[in-house]
Amino acid sequence: MKKTFLLVALFVALALVVASCGGGSSDDPAAAGKKLFAESIIGAQPGCSTCHSLDADTVIVGPSLAGIGTRGDAAYIRESILDPNVILVEGFPSDTMPPVWGDELTEDQVDQLVAYLLTLK
Ligand code: HEC
Repeated sequence: MKKTFLLVALFVALALVVASCGGGSSDDPAAAGKKLFAESIIGAQPGCSTCHSLDADTVIVGPSLAGIGTRGDAAYIRESILDPNVILVEGFPSDTMPPVWGDELTEDQVDQLVAYLLTLK
């Protein structure tokens, strides 16, 4: 019984530590973007990582985003997310990346994803 309580207390303490680290989304947009990118579902949509790998040699549905921070600047990445059909990555068809992110993501979340993707050098 006592042991269980200790375990629960430890768990709560750990959860608090994790929450306080992860809660710094506004201080560290790139870290928040990294987390968001990894979500398998965002809103009602399959998340970014279901179509994009971060391994240069692995193509899922969309291109690998390894090194995207060296291929595009913030404006390009933002446009790729919000208006994917404007500039298509060679070899990938249009209308494959869902043009839903302007509705599905908040402005802050778009900023966080852009900040994160810019760190992928
Ligand atoms: C259903 C699959 C799918 C999902 C989900 C998806 N994408 Fe894409 N994405 C693609 C495809 C296909 C392309 C290439 C065609 C194009 O340029 O639109 C692409 C292109 C891109 C590019 C341009 C890459 C380059 O090399 O220039 C970026 C950046 C990008 N996506 C980011 C994201 C982010 C961030 C999310 C999540 C908010 C996301 N994508 C969700 C399929 C997807």
